[in-house]
Amino acid sequence: MTGSSPRLRAVAAAAWRFRWIVECDAETRFLGLADRLDALGAYPSPIPSPLRGEGRERDAPAPVPDLARRAAADERRHAAHCARIAAELGGPVPAAAPAPPAAVAPGSLEEEDAVTYELVAACCIAETVSVGVLTALLPVARDPGLRAVLHELATDEVLHARLGWAHLATAAARGRVAFLAPLLPAMLAGSVDEDLFREVEPDLEDEGLLALGVLPHRMKRELFAGAIEEVVLPGLSRAAVDTAAAARWLASQRAR
Ligand SMILES: [Fe+2]
Ligand SMILES: [Fe+2]
Repeated sequence: MTGSSPRLRAVAAAAWRFRWIVECDAETRFLGLADRLDALGAYPSPIPSPLRGEGRERDAPAPVPDLARRAAADERRHAAHCARIAAELGGPVPAAAPAPPAAVAPGSLEEEDAVTYELVAACCIAETVSVGVLTALLPVARDPGLRAVLHELATDEVLHARLGWAHLATAAARGRVAFLAPLLPAMLAGSVDEDLFREVEPDLEDEGLLALGVLPHRMKRELFAGAIEEVVLPGLSRAAVDTAAAARWLASQRAR
């Protein structure tokens, strides 16, 4: 990852530091969700998913709480990679772990639905978008070490997305997904940075970022919108979730 300007490396280091926080948050979230799923009782796991996975498929029919614990261990490993890359780029992460993430589900939901909300937000949306980002970065990353990390992350995040889709299918079979429809716009809004649909400083649009494992802002926006439109909303529809409000939210953001 040499050869980039100091300014570009600083922008990329900030992006990898942010990714480190996301991975740390994901570890905490998955551990909490595993315990909450256990408390709710056993969930069989059909693992239907709009995503194709690679590796570990043979293990996929594990109970969702076990998959969530495995995902937490993956995220810890991912966080370490992100911290190392941020440091290599000259912007190390803080010594202290980030504060635990806040619950994203509305407090008014019953526990079973709150868990579904958290899993849809974390897995069906965030992890699915993450797979899209990593898949886009892989062909353009030249550095072998960076490529190995991107590949490892992409392989794991596919499975993390799938555990959310598996849970959603179970929730659908139990007739407990209708509550999601009106909440999807807020869930989607909560899954993006505030500036995703805005113009940003030119440094964040520099295509040189791709070689450092970071998407230029415009590509990040297009990738998010594409993943929601082509994978997430069809996946939610297949689970009998009404996605009309979510589609309207996406259209309104794109029009900004
Ligand atoms: Fe991760
Ligand atoms: Fe993940």
